[in-house]
Amino acid sequence: MQMKRGLHFLRTLLLGAVVSALTGCGGGGGSGTNNQPPSGGPILPPVSQLPDPAAAPAMKDVLGGYFRVGAAIEPDQLLVESDRDLLEKHMSSITAENALKPDTIAPEDPSQAGYNFEPADRLVEFARANNMAIRGHALVWHFTAPDWFFEGPKEEDPATYRALVRQRLEQYITDVVTHFADDIYTWDVVNEVASDTDGQTYRTDSPWYEAFSVGGGDGAEYIEIAFRAARAADPDARLFINEYLTERPAKLANLLVIVDDLIAKGVPIDGVGHQLHLNLAANVDTIDAALTAVEQRTLLNHVTELDINIYQDPPTCPADINTCLADYGPTPPVAVLAAQAQLYRELYELFRTHDASIDSVTTWGLHDAHTWLTAFHQGRLNSPLMFDHDRQPKAAFWAVVDSTFTIPQ
Ligand code: GLA
Repeated sequence: MQMKRGLHFLRTLLLGAVVSALTGCGGGGGSGTNNQPPSGGPILPPVSQLPDPAAAPAMKDVLGGYFRVGAAIEPDQLLVESDRDLLEKHMSSITAENALKPDTIAPEDPSQAGYNFEPADRLVEFARANNMAIRGHALVWHFTAPDWFFEGPKEEDPATYRALVRQRLEQYITDVVTHFADDIYTWDVVNEVASDTDGQTYRTDSPWYEAFSVGGGDGAEYIEIAFRAARAADPDARLFINEYLTERPAKLANLLVIVDDLIAKGVPIDGVGHQLHLNLAANVDTIDAALTAVEQRTLLNHVTELDINIYQDPPTCPADINTCLADYGPTPPVAVLAAQAQLYRELYELFRTHDASIDSVTTWGLHDAHTWLTAFHQGRLNSPLMFDHDRQPKAAFWAVVDSTFTIPQ
């Protein structure tokens, strides 16, 4: 478990570095501000300028005519009454933050150790009781691929080795998708398989790609195999390819090469998941373009992991943590929250215009007290979601649910 957390941290650090390199600012950057509250301006958010939280409408009621409204959660959050209340009031969909990843479900060879379905089963039970949909995230991800998948005679007998890894992959997907077939309507079959390098299609630093490449094999074949196994296990489930930085045109181009190849081969793919881990400099037009490109292929769009990092760090962060902005604490500057609210508003307006292809929009977390971004920066509090650290609706929430709401500046 300790090691898993360490790996997650390392991976998120690397993702942050990529985002920094691409945007020129680790957590944001481009809005023209200097990251500080306006001189003489209020330090605390003007809570009094926000409507009474008791008057907050349910997000799933406001947006339900367009798409499902979801949040990624951990099963233990269901033990927290205030979290349950938020979920029940606002969400029509949930995603397992980690409970459906292979390193949770099968950290050891399941033919010996069995499967650990219990944490995800708790989410299923809650979703059933509250009439919520569940997105299954994620069957295959380079970052949560336990070693047992890749044991075998790699050097001595590459063909046998590849067949063995393939057999394990197919068995795992068959067993997991079958177990959840009554409850999970959509699976992220593969997560983050596209390359970050311009013009290089596939991520090659993946144990899956490496295993299928052994002895001259086609490293990318696992993607096709995974989709076919998932379809065979549950013909009714919708099957997605999930990716980050689809808002970056060069990354989108790599992903579309993969998508087009799968379509050309008759591989059963139903949609593209856009993670959308954004910062305040996000460009809504490139997101629009990514959604449109998927529609042109008559596939579905899901927004799968939306959040908006509020720190506009210099490019040297997070590699040199000392150069990152200081902690805003639980009450970030009002100008930052205003920029975040404006971006959330524009995004949901955009998503509504694409509602024919988008049937689910999920935030990566429910409220600011539980977000991967805080762990990512060694505990510096981030506030990337629409409910604050006390689980109260933020300006971002009101900006999304009420088009007449004036965002406090
Ligand atoms: C990626 C993964 C998610 C989650 C986030 C944050 O986006 O797809 O499952 O782990 O990173 O760590």
